[in-house]
Amino acid sequence: MQQIHTYAKKGTRNGPLMKPGVFITLEGIDGTGKSTQIRQLVRHLRKSGRQVLVTREPGGTRVGERIRAILLAASTGRLAALAELALMYAARAQHLEEVVRPALQRGEIVVSDRYNDASFAYQGFGRKLGLRTVQAFDRIICGDTQADLTIVLDLNPGQALERAQGRDARQGTSRGRFEAQGLQFYRRVRAGYLALARRAPLRVKVVRADQPVASVQNEIRAIVERLLASRTKKGKRGF
Ligand code: TYD
Repeated sequence: MQQIHTYAKKGTRNGPLMKPGVFITLEGIDGTGKSTQIRQLVRHLRKSGRQVLVTREPGGTRVGERIRAILLAASTGRLAALAELALMYAARAQHLEEVVRPALQRGEIVVSDRYNDASFAYQGFGRKLGLRTVQAFDRIICGDTQADLTIVLDLNPGQALERAQGRDARQGTSRGRFEAQGLQFYRRVRAGYLALARRAPLRVKVVRADQPVASVQNEIRAIVERLLASRTKKGKRGF
C-alpha cells in the first residue's frame, strides 16, 4: 500500500508526486496481431526520439515470467479461477514495483502488452468472476497506477482463434491453457473488452484488427500521437 500512496491522484497539478511518464497498454483476445503491432509502434516511437520501455504481462520480471509459465502451460492443468486471478495480480505487483513505476517516474513511455484490463476481460468476464472481485485486486495492487491509454485490438473470436492456432502451428508451439478454452470463452472475453471500452471511452480505444497490418498500425499511431501531443501541451515532462 505504501507504494501506491507515493503516486498522486490523476488530475492533480504537476508536483513532485506527479507520475511524469505515460502508460500505454495494448489488449485484445489472443490472435489479434498484438505483438506485431506493439513491435511496430515501439519502433516508431523510438525513431522519433522518445524513451520507451516495452514490457508484457503476465511477466516482465524474473518472478513474473515464472508465474507466467505456470499460468500458460497446458501441463498446469486446472487452476481455480481465483487462483488464476491471484497469480495474475502477483505477477503484476512484481512488475509494477520492479519495472513499471520506476520507468514512469523516470518519465518514460511504458508500453505494456496487456495489463489490468486483461484480468477484467479474461478472469472477470471469461472466467465469470465478475468485475467486483477483479476490482478488489486492482485497488490493492494497481492503485493509482492506471493506464493513460489502452488500445483494444478487436477481432471476432473465430478469426482470432484461427490466427492464434496458425501461429502455433508455424512456430511449433502447443496451445496453452487459454487458447484451449474455445469459442464461448473468447466470446465472453471479447464482450468484456468492449464493455470496458464503453465504460471508459476516453481511455480505452477500440481498433478493428480485421484490416491490413499497416492500416491497424496507422490507427494505433494516430491515437498514441494524439495522447502524446495533449500531454506535451499540458506541459508534462518526459517527451
Ligand atoms: P499473451 O502474452 O498475449 O499471449 P501470447 O503472446 O502468448 O499469445 O497473454 C498471455 C495469456 O494470458 C493470454 O491468453 C491472456 C491471459 N491473461 C489473462 O487471462 N489475464 C491477465 O490479467 C493477463 C495479463 C493475461
